[in-house]
Amino acid sequence: MSRILITGAAGFIGSQLAYRLWKDGEEVALVDNFSYGSDDNLIFEEHDFREEIYRKDIRDLEFMEELFKERRFDVVYHIAGITPLPDCQNMPVDAVYLNLRGTVIMLDLVRRYGAKKMIFASTSAVYENNTDFPSVEEKVEKPSLLYPSTKYTAEQFCKAFSDAYGIPIVCMRFANVYGPHIDCLRTQPPVMGYIIRELFKGKSPVLHSTGDQKRDFVFVDDLIELAVRVMKAEHYDVVNVSTGKTVTINEICEKITKLMGSDKKPEYMEVGHFWANYPELYREPYPISTGLMEHEVLKYTCLSNEHAFKEYGWKPETSLDEGIAKTVEFSCKVLEKAGIKET
Ligand SMILES: NC(=O)c1ccc[n+]([C@@H]2O[C@H](COP(=O)([O-])OP(=O)(O)OC[C@H]3O[C@@H](n4cnc5c(N)ncnc54)[C@H](O)[C@@H]3O)[C@@H](O)[C@H]2O)c1
Repeated sequence: MSRILITGAAGFIGSQLAYRLWKDGEEVALVDNFSYGSDDNLIFEEHDFREEIYRKDIRDLEFMEELFKERRFDVVYHIAGITPLPDCQNMPVDAVYLNLRGTVIMLDLVRRYGAKKMIFASTSAVYENNTDFPSVEEKVEKPSLLYPSTKYTAEQFCKAFSDAYGIPIVCMRFANVYGPHIDCLRTQPPVMGYIIRELFKGKSPVLHSTGDQKRDFVFVDDLIELAVRVMKAEHYDVVNVSTGKTVTINEICEKITKLMGSDKKPEYMEVGHFWANYPELYREPYPISTGLMEHEVLKYTCLSNEHAFKEYGWKPETSLDEGIAKTVEFSCKVLEKAGIKET
């Protein structure tokens, strides 16, 4: 049994990682400040983490110091982060304060309290400016948006700590993750959560441009399986978590619409509408670059998962249809419970 810390444990990915490790018989400690996560994410068939999670900010140095001193972790999964791209553009100081400074806080605690390894939740968004596909771990054209910039810089700190102190650290670059517990309630949910919510409300989902943008979607259980396997790493590593396949947003929307028995068709909006919920990004003396936004909406993502296979024997197992069905079923229950009106 290992003693394992999971930050961001009330979120989509962190909560399911906690459940998997708990089921594997590990001793897990969970921390989350609930800026995005929810209590509902902590209730599982065989276990309820609501009473035991530390409702704390990972930047609360006094608390974190005590926690590391007391629990003497073997492994740290640093999953907490600000993910929504517009939130990061809109609150750059907060984004750096959490995604970068928060990561360095964890690295330093790992160093000083002797945890055996750390696993960091990075993102495929670091490849936003790549032009060769599928994207491979060694090649990153430096990103332009703030979210991937914070994550990419945090990866550099992981490397620096690993080089200087010999700590095995694995940066996992997640493609678009989907599955049960995906957030469908926040202002700017991930695309599947958004489509399900709009259809549940009886509304047409708004897709940007033609909806023919191709993305690489990985199912959360597959991600968790790899997250568990990377615990064996003995050195610094960066690994993509992806299917290596792409699907268009229109195809995703069609599948969800069919499963939900809806007759709504998507509405298509110009790229400029992409962050309509964040009007301040357009109104400041320096409005956000339309070129950058267009690139973000239209970008193609496809990540090689060869390294994950060679190093950890991992391949994604869940088909898109199976994964979407599970996501829709779970999200509809969440929306119902949240009192979102079904029409
Ligand atoms: N979901 C995806 O498609 C995806 C893709 C690439 C990378 N990632 C990365 O994976 C990680 C998890 O993503 P997710 O989808 O589960 O996001 P999420 O928002 O559901 O979970 C993140 C959790 O971190 C918590 N948190 C934020 N700030 C905190 C702080 N200061 N102290 C303690 N907890 C804090 C939030 O409350 C939330 O529960 C993030 O770091 C994200 O950047 C996610």
